Amino acid sequence: MDDAPDARLDPVTELLLSEAGEIAEPIGVLDDVDGALCRTLADRGYTARVWCDEVRAERAVPQPWRRPTPQQAVAGVRTVLWRLPRALGAVDEYAQAIAEHADPAVRMIAGERDKHLSRSMNEALARHFTSVHASLGHRKARALIASGPIASPASWPRTARLEAFELDVVAHGATFNTNRLDRGTALLASCFDRLPAASTAIDLGCGSGILAALLARRGMRVSAVDVAWSACDAAGLTASANGVEVDVQRRDGLAGWPQQVDLVVTNPPFHVRAAKDTSPTRGLFTQVGDVLTDGGELWCVYNAHLPYLPWLRRAIGPTEILARDRAYVVTRSVH
Ligand SMILES: C[S@@+](CC[C@H](N)C(=O)[O-])C[C@H]1O[C@@H](n2cnc3c(N)ncnc32)[C@H](O)[C@@H]1O
Repeated sequence: MDDAPDARLDPVTELLLSEAGEIAEPIGVLDDVDGALCRTLADRGYTARVWCDEVRAERAVPQPWRRPTPQQAVAGVRTVLWRLPRALGAVDEYAQAIAEHADPAVRMIAGERDKHLSRSMNEALARHFTSVHASLGHRKARALIASGPIASPASWPRTARLEAFELDVVAHGATFNTNRLDRGTALLASCFDRLPAASTAIDLGCGSGILAALLARRGMRVSAVDVAWSACDAAGLTASANGVEVDVQRRDGLAGWPQQVDLVVTNPPFHVRAAKDTSPTRGLFTQVGDVLTDGGELWCVYNAHLPYLPWLRRAIGPTEILARDRAYVVTRSVH
C-alpha cells in the first residue's frame, strides 16, 4: 500500500478499503466494528448491506444498510468487506455463506491484525473459494483476498448432544464455545438443584442458551440476553430443540429492562473482542441489582482469580460461595 496511513481509521478498516480499490457494487459488509468502514463508504458515495454480530457495532451502521443475518448482507453482492472473526468456526460459517449467496464473480476481502491471523483461517477460506491470497502487511494488519466461490450446503448452525444434561445445544461458529459445555457453565449448572423457587429468570450473556434452557425446563419464565446475534439465534434454536420456551433478546446488558425478575444467572463476559477485559462486568452487576426483586438472587460463575466477590457484594448484596473447583467459583448473591 503506497498511501500514507489514515490515522482516523483502524488499520484493518484502512487496509480493507485500500485493497478494495474501485469497489464493484453491490457491496456486503460483515462486522464493521466501529462504524468507520460504513462512514467511509458513505463518504465515497457507496451504499452497502451490512451485518454485525454485536448489537453495539450495529448501532453505528446507517439503519437502511442493516441486514438481520450474514446471509442477507452478502446475497447477490460482488464485493464483500469483512472483519475476520476470531473463531475458526465463524470464519468457516461466513465464508460458506458468501460462497453460497454472493454473486459468482464476488471478490472477498477479509482483514484482521496480524496477531489474530492464523494459517488455519486461510485453510478455512480455501474450502469455500478457489483462489485465496494474502495482501502485504500494513500497520500490523493483513487482508486475505478470495474469489471463485465454491457453493456447498450450509453446515452451520451445528447441534451437539450434552448427555450430562440431556440437552441438545445449537450454535453458530461465533457463539461462545460453540456447542460445547464450558467448565464454568458446567459448575454453575451443577448447583441448580439448590435454586430458589423463582418464577422469572434471566440468563445474562446467554451464548448458546444452555443455562436458559435448563431454567426453562424447571418451569421458570426465562429471558436469554446477549449482545451477539450468533448467541441469540443459537439460544432460540437451543430452546426449540429442547421443546422449551425462552424469550431471547439481543441487547447490551440489562439497562432499561422493563420488569423486575426473581433470578439472574450468568457466566459473564471476560473479553471485549479479542482483549481480555472484565471491567464491563462490573457495570453488568450494577444493572442486575436494578432488575432483581427484593430477595431476588444473582447466581454467577467466574474465574477464581477475578475480583468479583466485592463487586457482587456492593452491587447486589450478601454473597456466598456455592461451589468451587481449581479454576472457577460459583456465587449466590441475595438482593
Ligand atoms: C462467557 S460467555 C457465556 C455464554 C453462556 N452463558 C455459557 O455459559 O456458555 C459470555 C457471553 O456474554 C455475552 N456478552 C458480552 N457482553 C455482553 C453484554 N454487554 N450484554 C449481554 N451479553 C454480553 C457474550 O456475547 C457471550 O456470549
